[in-house]
Amino acid sequence: MMVTAYDATFGRLVDEAGVDVILVGDSLGMVMQGHPHTLEVTLDQMAYHARCVRRAVQGALLVVDMPFMSYQVSPEQALISAGRLVQEGGAEAVKLEGGGREEAVRRIVSAGIPVMGHLGLTPQSVHEFGGFRVQAREDAAAERLRRDALALQEAGAFAIVIEGVPAALATEVSASLAIPTIGIGAGVGCDGQVLVIQDLLGLEDRFKPRFVKRFAELAGAVREAVGEYAREVRGRDFPGDEHSFSAVTQPVEPPKAASGGGYGPT
Ligand code: KIV
Repeated sequence: MMVTAYDATFGRLVDEAGVDVILVGDSLGMVMQGHPHTLEVTLDQMAYHARCVRRAVQGALLVVDMPFMSYQVSPEQALISAGRLVQEGGAEAVKLEGGGREEAVRRIVSAGIPVMGHLGLTPQSVHEFGGFRVQAREDAAAERLRRDALALQEAGAFAIVIEGVPAALATEVSASLAIPTIGIGAGVGCDGQVLVIQDLLGLEDRFKPRFVKRFAELAGAVREAVGEYAREVRGRDFPGDEHSFSAVTQPVEPPKAASGGGYGPT
C-alpha cells in the first residue's frame, strides 16, 4: 500500500508503520501550500519536499510526483525533470499523470528511473475536467482508460495509480495488466491503495470525499492539545519545575536524534 508524505516527521512515522511505498505527491500544493489544486507546484518544491522525506525513510520505496509542466513539453524535458527528482530529491521512482505520455515514460525508464503512471481523475487536468469529478463513466472514456493503461505498461511503467473511476472499470483494468494498479477512489479491485496522509489521519476535517476513510480524528486532537497548551501557558501552569533548569548541571545522555528539545545537560 502507498501513502503520501511531505516532510521528515511524517516520512519517518509512515515508514515505521510499514507502508510499502511513500509518495511525495504534488497534492502538497493543496495540503501543504493551501492551494485549491496542484497546478502551482514547481519542480524545485517537489525536490525540496522529497529531500525532506528522503532523510527520514529507510524501508519504503520513495516515489516522487512530477509536477505540472515538468514533463508535458517533450520527452527530453521529462527525462531532465525526472533526473532532478532523483539527484536533488532522492527519488527512487517518479510518477506522472495521463495517457499519451509513452515516449516520455520510455525515455525516463531507459535512463534507469522507474516510472509510475496515473490515470483517471488526474488532478493536473482539473480545468479540463471542470472540477474534481469521477472520470471514465462513459463508454468512450472507459475505453480510452483501458488503452492508456496498456500503453503505459507497454512503455515500461512499473505500476499505475487509478484515481476516481468506477470500481468495476478499475477492477477490470487491474485484471488486464501484468503490473500492479494502486487505487484511490477506484474501489477494492485495484492491487493496492493510496491515500493522502492528512485525509487518512483526519487532519483535514473541513470536508470528507466519499473515497476517504479517516483512520483517526487528529484534527480535533491537535486543536485540543494546542488549546490545553495555550491555557496552561496563560495560567502559568506550564512550564513546571520538571520542565525547567537549575544552576547545578547534571550530566545526562546526549539526545539520540535532533529534536526541538534536546539541550544535553539539564
Ligand atoms: O499527489 C498525490 O498525492 C497523488 C495521490 C493522491 C495518488 O497523486
